Amino acid sequence: MSGKKVIITGVPGVGKTTVINSAFDKITAEGVKYQNLNFGSFMFEVAQAEGLVADRDQMRKLDRIAQKRLQKTAAEKIAAIDGNVIVDTHASVKTPNGYLAGLPEWVVSAIMPDVIVLVETDNDQILGRRLSDETRVRDLEGSKSIAEHQEMNRAFAAAYSMLTGCTVKIITNADFLLDKAVDELAATLR
Ligand code: AP5
Repeated sequence: MSGKKVIITGVPGVGKTTVINSAFDKITAEGVKYQNLNFGSFMFEVAQAEGLVADRDQMRKLDRIAQKRLQKTAAEKIAAIDGNVIVDTHASVKTPNGYLAGLPEWVVSAIMPDVIVLVETDNDQILGRRLSDETRVRDLEGSKSIAEHQEMNRAFAAAYSMLTGCTVKIITNADFLLDKAVDELAATLR
């Protein structure tokens, strides 16, 4: 497959989709072409059609086998897409039974990313953003638990790099500094 494959991850509420959409608009205006794909939407389309969930926040509570099956369908569809691609997804998903790899071997090897981006910020800022986001059913957890998830995501990203040879880029999306995060992501995409 030709084109640059950029996987972008971050714990729920860190603002990864906000950063992606602005960076995408910026590079599109410059004439750089990408397809902006949301892995969760590919999963949700199937999960909803099968009557498994009513909203996307219920997917991470499904049993492991169901989540893995949905991941596999999403990965197959995404891997078949040619050209420059952004994949908005998760390095790991926090399920009631522990962390589930967002990009297990059969997913990451199918996509073969050039780079995996981790969008991060202070745990307290993530907590604040989750509390003020009324459009979603965010997990309510303390900053220690959010810190653990961010640490786990770095470990998962290192494993993905070992499997594929991709680089791992960390971008901080701090309060009042969204523009900085957008500029950094746009530079990674160019
Ligand atoms: P997904 O849709 O990716 O859910 P999510 O993690 O909740 O992602 P969002 O895009 O909603 O959150 P975000 O952190 O990007 O925040 P946002 O930009 O909205 O995935 C849905 C589900 O799909 C997952 O739960 C999982 O079940 C499944 N899934 C996906 N990939 C999977 C995989 N690989 N394997 C298994 N399952 C998978 O921003 C949040 C808030 O912050 C907003 O209010 C925004 O305005 C604010 N904000 C953003 N930036 C800033 C800033 N700099 N300063 C202040 N506020 C800011």
